[in-house]
Amino acid sequence: MSITEEAYRVLKMNDRGGYTIPRPKLYPFQWNWDSCFVALGFMTYDEKRAWEELDLLFQGQWSNGMVPHIIFHRESDNYSPGPDVYQVVSATGIPTSGLSQPPIASFCVRRMYEMSSDKEAAKEKVLKLLPRLFAYHKWYHDVRDPMHTGVVSILHPWESGRDNSADWDDALGRVPITNLLHYERKDLKHVAAEQRPRKEDYDRYMSLVQILREHKHDAPGHYLASPFKVGDTTVNFILARADQDLLWLMETLAPDTYESEIMTIKEWLVSSKEAMERFWDEEDGLYHCIDVMNGQRIKSNSSGGFTALLTGWVSPERTEILLEKLRRWKEETGKHVVSFDPYSPRFDPRRYWRGPVWAIVNFLIYEGLVTAGQNKMAKEVAADTYELVKQSLFAEYYNPQTGEGLGGDSFSWTAAMWLYWLKPLADELGFVDEINSELDVAGA
Ligand code: GLC
Repeated sequence: MSITEEAYRVLKMNDRGGYTIPRPKLYPFQWNWDSCFVALGFMTYDEKRAWEELDLLFQGQWSNGMVPHIIFHRESDNYSPGPDVYQVVSATGIPTSGLSQPPIASFCVRRMYEMSSDKEAAKEKVLKLLPRLFAYHKWYHDVRDPMHTGVVSILHPWESGRDNSADWDDALGRVPITNLLHYERKDLKHVAAEQRPRKEDYDRYMSLVQILREHKHDAPGHYLASPFKVGDTTVNFILARADQDLLWLMETLAPDTYESEIMTIKEWLVSSKEAMERFWDEEDGLYHCIDVMNGQRIKSNSSGGFTALLTGWVSPERTEILLEKLRRWKEETGKHVVSFDPYSPRFDPRRYWRGPVWAIVNFLIYEGLVTAGQNKMAKEVAADTYELVKQSLFAEYYNPQTGEGLGGDSFSWTAAMWLYWLKPLADELGFVDEINSELDVAGA
């Protein structure tokens, strides 16, 4: 059996009719950035289905433009916190979470448009999405950066998509755990505890959800009330790249309709570019998150810092410094790109976002390296991701030292990354589209 056939099987298994869940039981709803990556995977063999993924995601959009990190299209008992905890709905009345995620949608929509074989159909889809994408970006720039500093804040670690990163340890440690209502850890029914967040962190995650819910997860009260406000590297740099892609889409497909939006996006880009300087930590040679509560950079080296390359704004000197860090991290762990500094005592190769490798993060770093003209290093990142897929198929994340698949298996966005990113590089980089016969493929 080929890796590609297995990827099709995974996406089919996780398809819920128009949207895809990341993994049955563990993540039984539609997740925001997962769906965007999955749409890229579908685009390689079923364009109509790919656009549906975005349609259904944007059905979850709020009237203020926010696109939630989870859309609860249907009920499920397997996941918590669910709709009963968030208690909010989209503009069309669908229950959703009250948090968002890295705004990768415009980046993916541009690619989907560019690779579509049916350009007329694709254009129609994009034209429908443009006002929604703009409203989403505007929500980030206005609601999550009310003083227009050029740095948007996440109000919960889950909004970074790097949920359990050690980047949050200090800022999260200041979140009070008072009057915490009872909650259940349903994730621990599906994945071993040592690969998931610890109880003390989870208590704070839930406490934050409670605080934000008291403020109806809505601006402006909730922004001020949140005891956690962080300028996350991933969210800010993805937004800066997504703004460029949205600008391209508007200028290419409907410049007259979006004249004033185009001006606004250009202003956002100027201010994000200026603010980017604040993320750079000269001493560590990496872009760091910013704790907006005290204006300080968070001294913590994580893979999020490399996503700066996506903006196209990193100088050649700094790019060299980032490359050197990538080399050193690989030297220590064997694979590109660990989620956390392998030289730190907080590094853990098996625990969620504190060490393991994620295929989608590698893809973002690959794209950043290509943007910076660093094709050789980009290919090394692709080759390592392929090695991990070959060894353990489509895991949620991988132990860089052993290649072991961790978290959930048969994971949608990892399968999509094979189809969209790695498979097209197969001829050039010598990837073999064949499953190692010793692997036990569920349902094969
Ligand atoms: C975890 C990840 C997040 C992802 C979700 C579904 O919560 O941290 O980035 O979107 O799983 O795969």
